[in-house]
Amino acid sequence: MATFFIQPRLAADQTPMTIQTVCVAGAGNMGTGIAQACAQGGLTVHLVDVDPDIPVRSKERMQKGLMGLVERGRYTEADVEEILARVHPKKRMEEAADGIDLAIEAVFESYDAKGPVFAAIDKAAPDHSILATNTSSLSVTRLAAATGRPDRFVGLHFFYPAMINKLVEVVKGDATSEETFAALMEVSRRIGKVPIETLDRPGFCVNRFFVPMMNEACRLFEEGVADIPTIDAAANRLFGTTMGPFELMNVTGPTITLHAQRTLHAELGPFYAPAKVLIEQIEGDKGHWSLEGEPDPSRFEAVERRLAATTIGIAGHLVEEGVANIEDTEKGATVGLRWARGPFALANRLGTARVLEWVRDLHEAHKETFPVPEHLEAVGKEGRPVPIRTVSYHREGHVAVITIERPAQLNALDMGVLEELDEALTRLETEEEARVAVITGEGKAFVAGADIKAMADKDAEGARVFTLLGQRVFRRIETLDKPVIAAVNGFAFGGGLELALACDFILAGERAELGLPEVSLGIIPGFGGTQRLPRRIGRGRARELVYTGRRLKADEAMQLGLVDRVYPQGSFMAETMKVAETVARQAPLAVRYAKRAMREGLDDGIEDGLRLEAELALSTFDTEDKSEGMKAFLERRAPAFTGR
Ligand code: CAA
Repeated sequence: MATFFIQPRLAADQTPMTIQTVCVAGAGNMGTGIAQACAQGGLTVHLVDVDPDIPVRSKERMQKGLMGLVERGRYTEADVEEILARVHPKKRMEEAADGIDLAIEAVFESYDAKGPVFAAIDKAAPDHSILATNTSSLSVTRLAAATGRPDRFVGLHFFYPAMINKLVEVVKGDATSEETFAALMEVSRRIGKVPIETLDRPGFCVNRFFVPMMNEACRLFEEGVADIPTIDAAANRLFGTTMGPFELMNVTGPTITLHAQRTLHAELGPFYAPAKVLIEQIEGDKGHWSLEGEPDPSRFEAVERRLAATTIGIAGHLVEEGVANIEDTEKGATVGLRWARGPFALANRLGTARVLEWVRDLHEAHKETFPVPEHLEAVGKEGRPVPIRTVSYHREGHVAVITIERPAQLNALDMGVLEELDEALTRLETEEEARVAVITGEGKAFVAGADIKAMADKDAEGARVFTLLGQRVFRRIETLDKPVIAAVNGFAFGGGLELALACDFILAGERAELGLPEVSLGIIPGFGGTQRLPRRIGRGRARELVYTGRRLKADEAMQLGLVDRVYPQGSFMAETMKVAETVARQAPLAVRYAKRAMREGLDDGIEDGLRLEAELALSTFDTEDKSEGMKAFLERRAPAFTGR
């Protein structure tokens, strides 16, 4: 089921352990990526392998990769130096495990290879430290059982390439303690990843639906339903990807797909049996799939129904077995695999009634190892969409944390997010224990603005409803009788900055970037930016920022008074929570009246100003410049405005 109001997992007086020093055991491609991701995220990294030269070479590879990012403007040379200074190649495990809080194993994918590595780490690592495996296919519980600390053992499955891909599956073994789990979720977020929670079941979350989707593509080929180029093209249309399953298998190696599918088959039964053509491709040493030929669109639907049924059906199983929830499964697909939409959003787009029929057909062919998920039955019978939450609310003591969770779209605001934000505010208002709220975003963005894709398609009425909803929800934050803190962890553009401006004050991480770039899209700020920005930083500065659409780094935003405080990225959330807790300790009525006094004293004319802003913002929606501006953003090119 969807989890909206997530309850804190730890008792109120428990805080998760803070991880700062990490050992990565295994410095191959994956280990190098993991080590680099940790170092980029501010952790100290000890890197070790069987041969002491391997970690040294791994660090050299990291340096090369990071210098590429300097050329692309992502880092300065000084940043790279700082990152690399945190990476320490070690010769032996005793040294590598010294003083660590966490060890991440990234060696060959077999119990025989991993067992001795864990035995060595377990012996050398301090008692408090947590052990993690980057396995994608072995049992976390079984690996944990061979150590002396199964409660401090967890799966931490990074996705390739680990320094770029934001997804991490945090896998709970049978004995993993809540404290261990919470510490891993926290550190994953702190290093800029998007962690999803999964149980220790075969394939965890993502590979459980992704690998069988590729296997089903092979079956479609085997049955003669379509040829390879047609299957790839149909899959790309369905999932919004640029590489179909066969092309992808060629890139990653079909052997890996077969191995993963065999593991699923052994544990989960006949539906997961590898396709014969896949086995023949590998065992017959046929190498890569031939992608030659033109796709045949007349076969697209036949392909899509089977691939959709496989993916959506399995995603339903994951939720019903409690392996992963709807939202995390969506993130797995959109963040980890870069699909345009996850299985549940896909079901909604195709129509759940139609999808239910397709899943039933597949069930007929495979019976008990591919059941029809009950909740798909329930929504599909009535043609209702699957509810997918994009805003979470949880409370830590007296502090409510409201997180916008659409990381693949950089938390862009669409109607759904605004409506859920509104619901979260109702919860905040009515929950007596909540005295102060923190609003933040998941992943590398706070909120990258209103959703440009959604806005590009809106007609006049749609634009009006959207603009007025955004204005109303943000005004509600401003007038709410509890303080709301904007925790700007990353990009805050357009509607994102307008959301922050409606909060009582703005705390930012040092990597945050802020701005109102609406004029570059042919529109004007429509969620209160034209009213709140000049009130906050003065008219001249506000005009400069709005007319140029210039984007500011956190430090400059602080100098302009746009941001109230900037914290190092690594301690940003912890510092924000300290501020929120301090506010929460004060007399609630006094804080409420202070908020009201300060707001009403400065509020003069804001309602009229917002009305005017909405009217003018809406008139930009009728212009050719707006169509051009948004089209240009989506096509990743510079707009050519004409003033019409
Ligand atoms: N709406 C919809 N999708 C968005 C988005 C937005 N505002 N911002 C980013 N995304 C999507 C991108 O399209 C991309 O999707 P795909 O992977 O499917 O292509 C994904 O998020 C990741 O974005 P990038 O690849 O662009 O990430 P980046 O790190 O290279 O750049 C960024 C990040 C600088 C924030 C860049 O995404 C950007 O400039 N975004 C637009 C910012 C903007 O103009 N905001 C104002 C919106 S208008 C508004 O808010 C009106 C209002 O007043 C209410």
